[in-house]
Amino acid sequence: MTTDLPGPPRERVPSLLRPGARVFVAGHRGLVGSAVVRRLTADGHEVVTRGRDRLDLRDAERTAAFLRGIRPDAVVLAAARVGGIMANSTYPVQFIEDNLRIQLSVIAGAHAAGTERLLFLGSSCIYPKHAPQPIPESALLTGPLEPTNEAYALAKIAGIVQTQSYRRQYGASYISAMPTNLYGPGDSFDLETSHVLPALIRRFHEARESGAPALTLWGSGNPRREFLHVDDLAAACVLLLERYDDDAPVNVGCGDDLTIRELAAMVADVTAYQGETRWDTGKPDGTPRKLLDVSRLTSLGFAPRIPLKEGIAETYSWWLRQRAA
Ligand SMILES: NC(=O)c1ccc[n+]([C@@H]2O[C@H](COP(=O)([O-])OP(=O)(O)OC[C@H]3O[C@@H](n4cnc5c(N)ncnc54)[C@H](OP(=O)(O)O)[C@@H]3O)[C@@H](O)[C@H]2O)c1
Repeated sequence: MTTDLPGPPRERVPSLLRPGARVFVAGHRGLVGSAVVRRLTADGHEVVTRGRDRLDLRDAERTAAFLRGIRPDAVVLAAARVGGIMANSTYPVQFIEDNLRIQLSVIAGAHAAGTERLLFLGSSCIYPKHAPQPIPESALLTGPLEPTNEAYALAKIAGIVQTQSYRRQYGASYISAMPTNLYGPGDSFDLETSHVLPALIRRFHEARESGAPALTLWGSGNPRREFLHVDDLAAACVLLLERYDDDAPVNVGCGDDLTIRELAAMVADVTAYQGETRWDTGKPDGTPRKLLDVSRLTSLGFAPRIPLKEGIAETYSWWLRQRAA
């Protein structure tokens, strides 16, 4: 399994993040935040975190006071209210308000504390529903959003415009990344809230455990999706903090996609499920394809290191260990 953390070769380009920089990672217990902490720590930076139990990032005054106290060189904003279609459609108020409030607190608080670098995490799911494929960064705000996550997407778009505004008005080196579908250790395997990959891992594992002769999955299996291991995302985040200083957000993906049917076959193999996989074509498929154009990131020297099948096997082992603990 992956023991050394992936990352691009460090060329001799002056870094915008000084060695041993103090970095506040907001959302450090989450899938993204925990991977960013691992990467920054491995690179020798001083990582500062604060659990939600001690600091609710929606509280602007307390967040500003905290940031004034620690005076970080950089902030990675990976704290957010995140969820699937069901949660997004049931709680749109929390999705728009919590995210707007977290962003207002953290970005304004970081600027007031003199923080030089800030990386805001957007998402590929905030591009217009009918964006061209692969999706270029320029597609942002060019068309209607997916209605089921409009409240979340609008909050995230506001976060991107907020970072751009600090750059325009104050010259702040604040940037945004747009990750594709992520997976890896730290992911949620709760079938009510999980994304497609952990859900598949769990369902195939349970089908094997119960000796089920067949497993039925939703849809035709034909939609194409892109997946990136969260350790590769974390490497990209640090690369962006070191080398990227521009207004435009940067897509973060692996530049390749596969059908859900191919993904399911990979997961069946990793979980050693021998039964048949069936497809319930009466269920909706969603967007036929979602792939990011990653040429901007690639031009900075990024290449993902973790092949999908290896990453799935590692994530599966992590989940089995969590269950056993
Ligand atoms: N996962 C993906 O596939 C994906 C893809 C594209 C973009 N992203 C983006 O990456 C970012 C992080 O996503 P994730 O998947 O890592 O989410 P996650 O696993 O749910 O983590 C979110 C983190 O935010 C923290 N948080 C939420 N509300 C908070 C509050 N009021 N005060 C303090 N902390 C709070 C949570 O704290 P607790 O641990 O206490 O709950 C958690 O640690 C999001 O902006 C998301 O849009 C994720």
